[in-house]
Amino acid sequence: DKREAIPGPSPLPLLGNIRDIDVKNTVRSLNELADSYAGPIYRLKLGVANVIIISSYELVNEVLARKEFIKYPVGTVMRMRDVIHDSLITAFHHEENWAIAHRTLVPAFGPLAIKQMFREMHDIGSQLVQKWTQTGADAAIDVAEDLQSLALDTLALCAMDTRFNSFSRDADQPHKLVDALNGIFTEVTMRAARPAWFTKLQWSANRKFDENNAFLRKLAHEVIDHRRANPSDKKDLLNALVSGKDPATGKRLTDDCIINNMMAFLIAGSETTGNLLAFLLYYLVANPKAYATLQKEIDQVLGNGPLVPEHLSKLPYTKACLREALRLQPTVPVLAVKPVDVEGPILLGKKWELDGPQTILVLLHHLHRDASVWGDDAEDFKPERMLDQNFAKLPPNAWKPFGNGQRACIGNEFAFQEATIAVALLFQKLDFFFVDPDYKLSIKQAASIKPANLFMRAKPRAGVD
Ligand code: HEM
Repeated sequence: DKREAIPGPSPLPLLGNIRDIDVKNTVRSLNELADSYAGPIYRLKLGVANVIIISSYELVNEVLARKEFIKYPVGTVMRMRDVIHDSLITAFHHEENWAIAHRTLVPAFGPLAIKQMFREMHDIGSQLVQKWTQTGADAAIDVAEDLQSLALDTLALCAMDTRFNSFSRDADQPHKLVDALNGIFTEVTMRAARPAWFTKLQWSANRKFDENNAFLRKLAHEVIDHRRANPSDKKDLLNALVSGKDPATGKRLTDDCIINNMMAFLIAGSETTGNLLAFLLYYLVANPKAYATLQKEIDQVLGNGPLVPEHLSKLPYTKACLREALRLQPTVPVLAVKPVDVEGPILLGKKWELDGPQTILVLLHHLHRDASVWGDDAEDFKPERMLDQNFAKLPPNAWKPFGNGQRACIGNEFAFQEATIAVALLFQKLDFFFVDPDYKLSIKQAASIKPANLFMRAKPRAGVD
């Protein structure tokens, strides 16, 4: 028999492997454990479940290509169901509302539909340029924070027709909805880290959580009612939610379904896109050659003039930089799948047998740095490898920052357009420097991963108004 046991740290009675994981940075723990096992696979006992973790290109490609492995919400995604229930991002794959919302909303996220949201994205991007210009070159900017506001304000405008105005208010006085969302995030993260019976006992936290939830849903309802009372032919996400029809059944989304998915967009699209931009700024400032190439491309296409939609397809190096930043720092760092409807033993790599239908975690950090795909310079920021002609030659399932198959990200075009607009506007007008010239990248884990303590200075470029 060629079967091999799946290695892993010994579980303790009752506690399992919980002590092998830092609950504040589970992703780092998972990545470090992968490094400490020579092979591409290991197992952990977390709570009552045995979880399998895979990291090599070969094994990940096998799992992502096999149809029986289906997305399974775990951890904070699972707990997010307390808020957005069976939204696209949190739904179990068999839930009917996933299929209905997927069919209804996919057209609104296609390239043509996203082009119609250029004006909104440009609006928020310009506000950030203005804020950072006024900040002055001597002040330290918390780039991750401001870029997350950029993404959140953009989504609020496109999906809720609402302005959060994050850049024109005091940092400690966020829009009430931002406050509620932050409260919900904190609670959901805690819930994911502790047993359900313990959560039940947190009366005061639970009351606050329910209040935040109720506030969110009330506000979302007002937004929906307002758009229904004031129909608009805007091609924004709000119209797709309110007026879109499921092509298979001809039905519209229920109000609950609209609210769940509206919130899902804000939750799935803000930290992810904001942190992509923060990581990109880091890699560009840390790699002067790539920085200069990007700035030259933007100068050649935009000159001193305004950014227009036609420019977006003329920025191939910028696009490659975004892809490369997502390779090195996939802001959603782990994908989770589970085998569904399989009879008989389930083998991975022809030799590792699963212990029934176990959850499998895919570590994108390792997948995206596997030397068999990316070569010896896998650790380096080299956008050239992501230019269209090279990108097209990558083997299947080598670059998965947007997830897999039917459950892949619906908002990737949205994110790329928003990020491209932001990068073009920012680099046309400003130059960036580390506040600490010796800054070393370290990663903080929130709902997604972000650069920790990344402070920059932004200096208006000479000869640009
Ligand atoms: C799903 C990444 C931006 C909406 C996903 C998944 C990933 C991902 C990895 C699959 C999650 C899983 O397998 O559990 C990203 C990254 C982004 C980004 C890296 C930015 C750089 C956005 C934006 C939106 C969005 C801007 C909305 C406007 C969604 C939704 C899903 C999803 C609704 C669930 C799709 C489904 O299962 O039907 N995203 N995302 N994402 N994302 Fe994104």
